[in-house]
Order: sequence, then C-alpha cells, then structure tokens
Amino acid sequence: RNIVILISGGGSNMAAIVRTAQQENWEQRYGARVAAVLSNQADAAGLLLAREQGIATGALDHRAFASREAFDAALAAAIDRHQPALVLLAGFMRILTPDFVARYAGRLINIHPSLLPAFTGLHTHQRAIDAGCRFAGATVHQVTAALDAGPILDQAVVPVLPGDTAQTLAARVLSQEHLLYPRAVRALVRAL
Ligand code: GRF
Repeated sequence: RNIVILISGGGSNMAAIVRTAQQENWEQRYGARVAAVLSNQADAAGLLLAREQGIATGALDHRAFASREAFDAALAAAIDRHQPALVLLAGFMRILTPDFVARYAGRLINIHPSLLPAFTGLHTHQRAIDAGCRFAGATVHQVTAALDAGPILDQAVVPVLPGDTAQTLAARVLSQEHLLYPRAVRALVRAL
C-alpha cells in the first residue's frame, strides 16, 4: 500500500508522517509505506528530508508547463508510477484541476491550517486573529473540486492568545498539525 506525499516547501508535515510511519512500523503492521515525495518546487527543503530517509523524490516545476492541465497530467503520471493507495497534500501550494481531483477521488487528502469550514484559502491565521477568534487550528479533509471544502476527517484546536501574531499562531497550529496529520493518516491506512 503505497503513500505518495506532495509538498511545496519545508515539508514538516511530510516529515512528521514519515517519522510516525517509521516509529510505528506501518509497513510491517499495515503494509503501508511512504513510497515517494513529490514537489512542484525543485528546491523544496522537504525533498532533502525525504531523500535522507531513502524515499524516492521528484520535482515538477509547474512553471515549465503551458497550462494547469498539462502540469496536473504530468504530476498524475509521476504519482501513478507508485500506484498509490493514498495521495497526501502536505503544504502543497497548488490548486488542482477537477480532472486531477476526480482521478484520485476518495484517496486524496489535505491538511489546511484553519478550523474548516472557517477560513478557506490563504492567510488563515491573520484572518482568525483579525476576526477576534478565541480558537484556531487545523483540519484534515478529503480533497474535492471545491477548494478546502471536502469531508472533514479530523481537526486539532489551539487557543488564540492575547498578543498573538500570525507567526506565533502559525507555529502553535503547525505543532498540532504534526500530531493531527499522522493520526488521521494512520486511521486511513488501517482502513485500507
Ligand atoms: C503550513 O502553513 C501548514 O500549516 C500548511 O502548509 C504550510 C507548510 O507546511 N499545512 P509544511 O511544513 O510544508 O508541511
């Protein structure tokens, strides 16, 4: 049961999943492994992390493709080489075409740094602070064609503290993401 993880940057969520899979022996217990980490940014630091763990990596520069459809088709081809049971978006900063989403329907998962359905899209922490929210958090959800709107699988909540900036709140949420995403993926892997 192969898992493919898509990243665009630091890949801390990917790293948390890889570490959890190793520590909990997912391969032996569930027959599941992270087969590849792919990115739309060739210089994504997470690619180095994955390579250090002996995981196959790939990068497709979206700027090298004439259209969103062409990029998504090339990305799907790279993903399908690993015949994934699960495709995880982890800090993957691309909007995917409906055809791509349909191709992986039911096995395409994302983590979003807000308590969906609140604050879909970008700059979620600043928006939560500006709105006067007392709580914020992250959501793991199934990916559908509508941005950040698929069925919710799990969530983590953190307090918004007086004096919080987007940066301090983001750090508090991110640390919870690193517990939430591996927990949600474990539940999915056990159900495969
Ligand atoms: C972070 O903002 C996180 O909240 C969101 O994607 C961004 C980068 O995450 N999920 P990562 O460190 O690349 O996993």
